[in-house]
Amino acid sequence: MCGIMGYNGSKNAIPIVIKGLKSLEYRGYDSAGIAYFFNEKIKIIKEKGRISELEKLLNNDNSNLCIGHTRWATHGKPSKINAHPHMVGRVTLVHNGIIENYKELKDNLEKEGYSFKSETDTEIACSLIDSIYKKNNDILETLEQIQTILKGSYAFLIIFQQDKNIYALRKGSPLVLTQNELGTFVASDIPAILEYSKKFYFLEEGEVAKLSKESITFYSKKNIINKKYNTFNYDLTTAKKNGYSHFMLKEIYEQPKVVKEFLDYYFENFKLIPDISKYKKIQIVACGSAYHSGLVGSYFIEKYGHIEVQSYVASEYRYKEKFIDKDTLVILVSQSGETADTIASLRLAKEYQATTLGIVNVIGSTIARECDEVIYINAGCEIAVATTKAYTLQVLTFSLIAYKLGVIKGNIDNNLKDKIKTDYLKLPQYIDDLLKLDYNNLTNKIYSKKNVFFIGRQLDYYSCLEGSLKLKEISYIHSESYPAGELKHGTISLIEEKTPVVSIVTDEKICEKSISNIKEVKSRGAYVLLVKKSNILVDDSAYDDKIEIPNTFDLVSSILTIIPLQMLAFNVSFKLGLDIDKPRNLAKSVTVE
Ligand code: M6R
Repeated sequence: MCGIMGYNGSKNAIPIVIKGLKSLEYRGYDSAGIAYFFNEKIKIIKEKGRISELEKLLNNDNSNLCIGHTRWATHGKPSKINAHPHMVGRVTLVHNGIIENYKELKDNLEKEGYSFKSETDTEIACSLIDSIYKKNNDILETLEQIQTILKGSYAFLIIFQQDKNIYALRKGSPLVLTQNELGTFVASDIPAILEYSKKFYFLEEGEVAKLSKESITFYSKKNIINKKYNTFNYDLTTAKKNGYSHFMLKEIYEQPKVVKEFLDYYFENFKLIPDISKYKKIQIVACGSAYHSGLVGSYFIEKYGHIEVQSYVASEYRYKEKFIDKDTLVILVSQSGETADTIASLRLAKEYQATTLGIVNVIGSTIARECDEVIYINAGCEIAVATTKAYTLQVLTFSLIAYKLGVIKGNIDNNLKDKIKTDYLKLPQYIDDLLKLDYNNLTNKIYSKKNVFFIGRQLDYYSCLEGSLKLKEISYIHSESYPAGELKHGTISLIEEKTPVVSIVTDEKICEKSISNIKEVKSRGAYVLLVKKSNILVDDSAYDDKIEIPNTFDLVSSILTIIPLQMLAFNVSFKLGLDIDKPRNLAKSVTVE
């Protein structure tokens, strides 16, 4: 939800900030803007649309200090006037987050004589800062005071007229900083500043950072503090397209490699997979695809660990009646580690003294830092808004947790243990094989349809949820996922001639039931695409097209079933000529509630 970037140093800051913003565009892309010092004055250039639109307005100005923003609209529609930066009096800023008490602040500021050009909460925050700064003329004191007044979430980069520094502060939304011989850098996420250093500072809530041309000074309650930097050896290539047309396609094709690396690493260091056998109650909390991985996780843990698990959507979990205590394990799943509702759920779980375990991709992110224990999935940078490789690795993480649990609890004996391990070791090759299939024919059957249904039972239903989300978020085709047995309770009335129904069947124990459901939709005219395990036999007349995945244990097949559905979603969106990496209305990282 919005990407922000700032640079102060010896080089021309404008191209540096524009480049950084481009790598943050996955966080929001409905308008963009920059502010920089030019002839001792602050100049703002902003535009509706992508950063490429903003670039058309740039001239040859040269400035050593610049802040920039790429927006995902919250308050006020995407427009030039609502785009950031906002300037009020001596204060200019960019903001990622939502100011919740903006209405009350606005009323007070109007009484002071402020008026507002935009519909944004950000302009109100900017006016508040100007108002306080006018009274005390003390930047650090002003920034301390606003933190006690503002409610909601924010990451601000602020510049003040006649002060050649960038000030950064945050609550909820992330900020990462670095410096080198060229100057100082600050951004919402590491890819924007990755090429300048491998050492990063994470700004904590309540801290203020002052970025001069040469150095970064950190303050807590106006006192200078020393902060340790974190060193990460990020692989720069994961943040680039490397010859692929789209980040999503590249990330789909990276799966055999990241899965292999993940398995090699965690089998080598098996003690890093947590032993969760002592918990009587486990709750999994996440959003979107991460939530779907949690559903798969709950199935695995219940099946192999015989522990009851509840999975929750984080935005619901945080407001429901809580049944958490110190003996509860709460697992938070998040690619970005910055999803607002998941962070809030984590903090709630900690308030109730539960043990918290994060399954996270982004190293050093808020969820990774705040959980008692963290498993990094090590997917590398995932840029496409639609997650693929991170989802796969989240499922694989749960798979290994359940595998270990099953072994510890004696539910997986030695013979079975080895057989499952053999499946794991073949997984990268199996994924590769599925990526090589030709998806053109299937794409043609689906891309022009208005509705697509996904059906499956148990584990297959959870994969259907993910397949359906993948398709709808990037193709804008309405799609729904149903437990196969539930169709007859209403939804089957929507099936008409050629309605696509994607059906997953991998569980030998209940496959007959699923096949009956497939026949029910087929006999009502549906076009059925069947994704099944090779050992499960299905009458040819029950489906139109099929994709077979190898006969493996469910700890592995649950990963294989999603691969063709990712490919299908990508190909449908591609055929429709849509912006696959940046689907409308979405952003990669949902840092607001
Ligand atoms: O960064 P997170 O894993 O916490 O993000 C959760 C969801 O926002 C995310 O999975 C979203 O559903 C994706 N767009 C799905 O492709």
